[in-house]
Amino acid sequence: MKVLVTGYTGQLGYDVVREGKNRGISMLGIGREDLDITNEAEVYQYVQKANPDVIIHCAAYTAVDKAEDDKETCWDVNVLGTKFIAIAANKVNAKLMYISTDYVFDGKGESPFTEADIPNPVGYYGLTKYEGEKILKDLLDEHFIVRISWVFGINGHNFIRTMLRLSETRNELNVVGDQYGSPTYTFDLARLLIDMIQTEKYGVYHASNEGFCTWAEFASEIFQQTKKDVTVNSISTEEYPTRAVRPKNSRMSKQKLVDNGFDPLPKWQDALKHYLNELAQEVK
Ligand SMILES: NC(=O)c1ccc[n+]([C@@H]2O[C@H](COP(=O)([O-])OP(=O)(O)OC[C@H]3O[C@@H](n4cnc5c(N)ncnc54)[C@H](OP(=O)(O)O)[C@@H]3O)[C@@H](O)[C@H]2O)c1
Repeated sequence: MKVLVTGYTGQLGYDVVREGKNRGISMLGIGREDLDITNEAEVYQYVQKANPDVIIHCAAYTAVDKAEDDKETCWDVNVLGTKFIAIAANKVNAKLMYISTDYVFDGKGESPFTEADIPNPVGYYGLTKYEGEKILKDLLDEHFIVRISWVFGINGHNFIRTMLRLSETRNELNVVGDQYGSPTYTFDLARLLIDMIQTEKYGVYHASNEGFCTWAEFASEIFQQTKKDVTVNSISTEEYPTRAVRPKNSRMSKQKLVDNGFDPLPKWQDALKHYLNELAQEVK
């Protein structure tokens, strides 16, 4: 099996390639320098030459706030880029897995969103990711859409790195405490994605580490595990205005994964511990 992975230079793509290679699968990871997915002709040419059995499409425009002011680029990457990748997958008869987001939901209510709930994005980034989902559904019979949330991995910037950096100069931080969701460790997710592509259990799935928290709780756990003396003040979304509106309830049910025989990801606190170890190795 040959697997083409877009977004290799980002957090998730990097770990997906690493996991596949560890299992002896032929993995081809690519970043924007290898292939700009907004260039239609080049996408078809590249994919036809690579001729993969599976494409795991992790590349995206992920700057949620910036997207509100840079709509054209965000649309081009997340919608057009995904469309070109989907058409290319069709041409070479490859299975396509598209990585989507909790931000396709409006965050209303308190119960976890299921795969049967209708998306209603509140920000532009979420809107473009949902458009990407619709393209897959329109163009391909056999595909995976995996919605993930609050991503952290060794190869890139994320909330944990930001908290650790801030802790070097601050002993008190205000962190939003009324948005609920689940962190997703790319190392854990990569295992699930590689399991999934070896099946024909197509469809939409939600996947993240087990358990829910707020950003403030996430920050507190980071400082507890790293034994940093930082006080976390839980503040409201209204007290921390951002360019893009973010859903307050980003909880997603992962029951469908279990129902389909896939192993759930570890608890988010355990994933954090593992990641902090991984970071410590990186520093050495
Ligand atoms: N980060 C999160 O918290 C989060 C939450 C929910 C869902 N997701 C989804 O999860 C997936 C992976 O996210 P991530 O955090 O790993 O992303 P990331 O670290 O921001 O990496 C983005 C990747 O997309 C590539 N890319 C951007 N524009 C491109 C273009 N025009 N052509 C080709 N490649 C391009 C980047 O390549 P270069 O480095 O070469 O520019 C990079 O490899 C994405 O689909 C994202 O929407 C992320």
